[in-house]
Amino acid sequence: MSFDKATQVYFSPSGNTEKVIKAASSRICNDITEYNLLKTPLTEDIQISGDSVLIVAMPAYAGRIPEPCVSMINHLKGSKQPAIAIIVYGNRDYEDALIELKDLLEANDFCVVGAGAFIAQHSIFPQVAAGRPDENDLRLIAEFADHCSKLLSTFSPDCYMTIKVKGNSQYIKPGKVPLKPKGDSKCNGSCICVDICPTHSISAEHPKKTNKETCISCGACIHACPMNARAFHGFMYKLATNEFIKSCAEYKTPETFYID
Ligand SMILES: Cc1cc2nc3c(=O)[nH]c(=O)nc-3n(C[C@H](O)[C@H](O)[C@H](O)COP(=O)(O)O)c2cc1C
Ligand code: SF4
Ligand code: SF4
Repeated sequence: MSFDKATQVYFSPSGNTEKVIKAASSRICNDITEYNLLKTPLTEDIQISGDSVLIVAMPAYAGRIPEPCVSMINHLKGSKQPAIAIIVYGNRDYEDALIELKDLLEANDFCVVGAGAFIAQHSIFPQVAAGRPDENDLRLIAEFADHCSKLLSTFSPDCYMTIKVKGNSQYIKPGKVPLKPKGDSKCNGSCICVDICPTHSISAEHPKKTNKETCISCGACIHACPMNARAFHGFMYKLATNEFIKSCAEYKTPETFYID
């Protein structure tokens, strides 16, 4: 079976999940329909066309898929088309994020032919995995994409048996990150952060403030602010930064999984 089209779906508040999925998709095909879930949240079902391969990339948040993305992934409807699942994580661990993504895609009638966990700079602690994905990561992403392309050329939905990926099917409990960013005196009131925040945690009246109850610490506001006014601050943040730099120092390498 040949697939000339791809549907690319990702959530990338700090830009690295986007970098990884684009490095992979561009080697798989040229005709790509894109859904950037940060800019255009999915609120209704989308039937993915039969001649299109679905490629989905998510960052790992506390070893899981970002909570607001679960319902959006459930809006992607297949009919036994192949899919590729990608998790991007910040060199700590991705625990059950990849198996959760794989399960969601299978539950919506996709056949996951390839799955990969790749490493990128940590979006809360940028000193962790700084500069990643690096040259070696990009080479391994290309190899992963090329292997998926080969599998797609011989793919038959009738022979699909579930792919085995790392992770526990009893997912770890979702954890909330207690650190929340806020704005400082450089803020010029542009409200770009208000529009980009996926959980509506910043108000136009007080854009320096953050609703700590609803904020998921994704960093989209930090990444989007043209004045560099939003950041994580405080003693707890400094403490956690030192802890993460120490505990995540070992260079992790990407892991890939394929159907038999
Ligand atoms: C709320 C939150 C939780 C995170 N949890 C993890 C984690 O469990 N393990 C890990 O290695 N990295 C973790 N990270 C780091 C991200 O997975 C990583 O930086 C990813 O590249 C972010 O994607 P983005 O650049 O597309 O936003 C977390 C980041 C955030 C914002
Ligand atoms: S994007 Fe930056 S400058 Fe604009 S309102 Fe938000 S914090 Fe202020
Ligand atoms: S306020 Fe929180 S949820 Fe909203 S963009 Fe910033 S970090 Fe993400």
